[in-house]
Amino acid sequence: MTDGTSQAAVRVRGLRRLFGDRAVLDGLRLEIARGEFVALLGASGSGKTTLLRILAALDGADGGEVLVPQARTVVFQEPRLVPSKKVLANVTVALPRNRSEHGLRALAEVGLERHADAWPATLSGGEAQRVALARALVREPELLLLDEPFAALDALTRLRMQDLVGELCRKHRPAVLLVTHDVDEAVRLADRVAVLRDGRLITDDPVTVDRPRDPGDPAFAALRRRLLDDLGVETTPQPATAHERTEAGVI
Ligand SMILES: Nc1ncnc2c1ncn2[C@@H]1O[C@H](COP(=O)(O)OP(=O)(O)OP(=O)(O)O)[C@@H](O)[C@H]1O
Ligand SMILES: [Mg+2]
Repeated sequence: MTDGTSQAAVRVRGLRRLFGDRAVLDGLRLEIARGEFVALLGASGSGKTTLLRILAALDGADGGEVLVPQARTVVFQEPRLVPSKKVLANVTVALPRNRSEHGLRALAEVGLERHADAWPATLSGGEAQRVALARALVREPELLLLDEPFAALDALTRLRMQDLVGELCRKHRPAVLLVTHDVDEAVRLADRVAVLRDGRLITDDPVTVDRPRDPGDPAFAALRRRLLDDLGVETTPQPATAHERTEAGVI
């Protein structure tokens, strides 16, 4: 029999994290295979960032088992660039010296090689976030942790960034955990979507919508509705058509 778990990049079992006497994470279980892209949804305050910080080893657990690869990087909602270092130096900040070739290649992948010599303060929000992405990818992580990385961007830039992240993740194949509030973003990008509620994943399902994923696809819309339901968001039913009203005997 094949041992499916041997391909796991992330394995979390029975994870508990307490703040005071409140268990924000309580018996959480999660597995991410190598090269798999998982999106994590959950209401504000449900513990998404807490989970991501534990996977990044920026925070500890109060119980349970957490296995993650050594090579892991995080992109947060804000780019967190060092203002006193130029763009290329920001990208290579965690690498051994003399790796500017690697940094330039990573900048080219996010379309910013011409900005290598610029100061972070001169970049737009979307550009700065692409530098943060290049800085995360240049280290060739086995696990890429993304905490609402597009949330501060305008709608068009966000769509472009989603495409870029999808493309780069397909190319580099890290395991990915993307935290987002945006259900459409989750369905567009992920191989699996999970919903965190009451300290554990109440949903953890593969996304079977055909790629490229179109929000107009009925399968996309059905999954969106179900996820919103799991999130506790009321979805308003579409107003009935004249035909449906007649059928239902309503005038
Ligand atoms: N260091 C801390 N000390 C005390 N409470 C904390 C700490 N960090 C997080 N919390 C609490 O844990 C809960 C989960 O926080 P977390 O930041 O993980 O939520 P989230 O799901 O990421 O929310 P959002 O979507 O708003 O970013 C919140 O109620 C928060 O106040
Ligand atoms: Mg958060």
